[in-house]
Amino acid sequence: MCGIFGYVGNRNDGQKLVFSGLKSLEYRGYDSWGVGVIPEESKNTIAIKKKVGKIGNANVSDLPGGSLSFGHTRWATHGGVTDANAHPHLDCSGTIAVIHNGIFENYEEIKKGLLRKGHKFVSETDTETLTHLLEDFSKDKPFAEAVRAAFNRMDGLNAVIAVSAKENLLVAARNGSPLVIGFGKNENFLASDASALLPYTRDVYFLEDNEMAVLAPGKVTILNVKTAKEITPKRKRLDWKIEQGEKGKYKFYMLKEIFEQPQIITDIAVSGASQAEEIAKKIKDARGTYLVGCGTASYACLAGSYLFSKLAKRHVNFAIGSEFGYSLDFLNKDSLVIAISQSGETMDILESVKKAKDKGAKILSLVNVPGSSLYRLSDYKMLIGAGQERAVASTKAFTGMVAHLVLLANSLNGGVKEGQKSLMAAVKSVNQILSLKSLRKIKELTSRIVDKKHIYVIGRGLSYPASLETALKIKEISYIHAEGLAAGELKHGPLALIEKGTPCISFLPNDETYGSNLAGAMEMKARGGYIIGISHKPREVFDYYIHVSDAGESSIIPEVIVAQLLAYYLTIKKGLDPDKPRNLAKSVTVK
Ligand code: AGP
Repeated sequence: MCGIFGYVGNRNDGQKLVFSGLKSLEYRGYDSWGVGVIPEESKNTIAIKKKVGKIGNANVSDLPGGSLSFGHTRWATHGGVTDANAHPHLDCSGTIAVIHNGIFENYEEIKKGLLRKGHKFVSETDTETLTHLLEDFSKDKPFAEAVRAAFNRMDGLNAVIAVSAKENLLVAARNGSPLVIGFGKNENFLASDASALLPYTRDVYFLEDNEMAVLAPGKVTILNVKTAKEITPKRKRLDWKIEQGEKGKYKFYMLKEIFEQPQIITDIAVSGASQAEEIAKKIKDARGTYLVGCGTASYACLAGSYLFSKLAKRHVNFAIGSEFGYSLDFLNKDSLVIAISQSGETMDILESVKKAKDKGAKILSLVNVPGSSLYRLSDYKMLIGAGQERAVASTKAFTGMVAHLVLLANSLNGGVKEGQKSLMAAVKSVNQILSLKSLRKIKELTSRIVDKKHIYVIGRGLSYPASLETALKIKEISYIHAEGLAAGELKHGPLALIEKGTPCISFLPNDETYGSNLAGAMEMKARGGYIIGISHKPREVFDYYIHVSDAGESSIIPEVIVAQLLAYYLTIKKGLDPDKPRNLAKSVTVK
């Protein structure tokens, strides 16, 4: 979702640095962008450039040079996608600018008051209200104090950057949306994502909720927003690898990330076992365990509930992040919530996890981004270890999540070695899928279904979450309507939608669901469905067959990788960008 990058230092081309920082945040998803700078030549003003659309080949060479600069990639919430609604926003005097992530929930009533006082609004955003509020407050307060007062008036989950040309100051405040301060030599940075800071510094502080940072040249002060008390920041050293920008031989990040999966799963199988055994003890001790995630991560959670039942004979509840908050009244200090997230910044998860914490529950997180908000607020932490995922459509993070869950579920019954074996069988199966012959087969299928309006995907047991994930991958990047179903549900309604030529993907793994899944495929075939079988062996009922060798309980991994490739090639065939699907963001930091 929205990206923020800020710079205060001794370079006089801060605007260029901020612009390149924004480029590294592009993967988060956005629909417009903007950069602001206090010009070296005209210190009492703020120059701004903002545009609808992707950054593409744009540049900021028309902006003056300056040593205090800030930028934003916007994912529209309030107000359409227009140049005027893009951030930064200026006050009436043009000397205060604001960029903002989140939703200013009570902006309407505050805006009314400001309009009455004669402030002129030029956008439809909630954010602009803050610029005018700051204009009012800073008449009789130092700027940092004005930001603190204004931020305390804001309801909702927000991250804000406010700049004063008069005081040559950048002030940031956070409640909800992530912000990281980067410390350099005579220069300091700020970003919504720590990975964007890596080219400049590894010395960082993750701003916590209700903290603010005042960045002046050569100095950063951290304060509590509520009390104004100064905080000594516990800085962290980032030991992450810089992975951005390198698509290598691949045209898109998504394809690169799909191909990284055999290595990631191997790494998890080899080095994740002892950690899984350790964490399994926490699950054993808990009275009531809940797996919680959103989107693709929720399907990993659902898969986890099957794995725990099957392998560990343990009931683990599953909930969608955005719903969990409404159904957790029964949690107590013996409960364990396993929150799974690639980014660790998904607001729907953070919100419900905070509620669970308030009930006394312990939080175990399985996240891909170290240092993320979810990672920091958890009692026990596990890293997925899939490396930076940049394509909006999650691929390697999903299979990484499932791989850890396979190890965890096996560890609970003392059989972590079995888990490792089954993951290695999955790796073998995935390597076959990634062979040229198999890729050709998947590509050929796309020509047969690319013009279809609807695709249905069915499975049972572990192939049910695989079906849901397949449908999500197809719809989010190729924009073809796809629906994932528990095969048993077909005859309770959806079968009415199957007609001659409707593509129906059926997962038929080598497990106890095989016979019933076959029956489901036949029921669709009898209504004219075009049956695409994904299985370890061909059947007559299949109109098109894709081979996936058996990997036991880990078969969901290769099944989903076929789906990832199918979605990818459908998208390429339609001439769309698989890395940046319309309307979606990588990191969903609003509710
Ligand atoms: C996956 O392809 C999606 N873009 C989306 O569903 C994603 O999985 C979801 O938003 C959760 O994100 P997280 O794993 O970062 O929490």
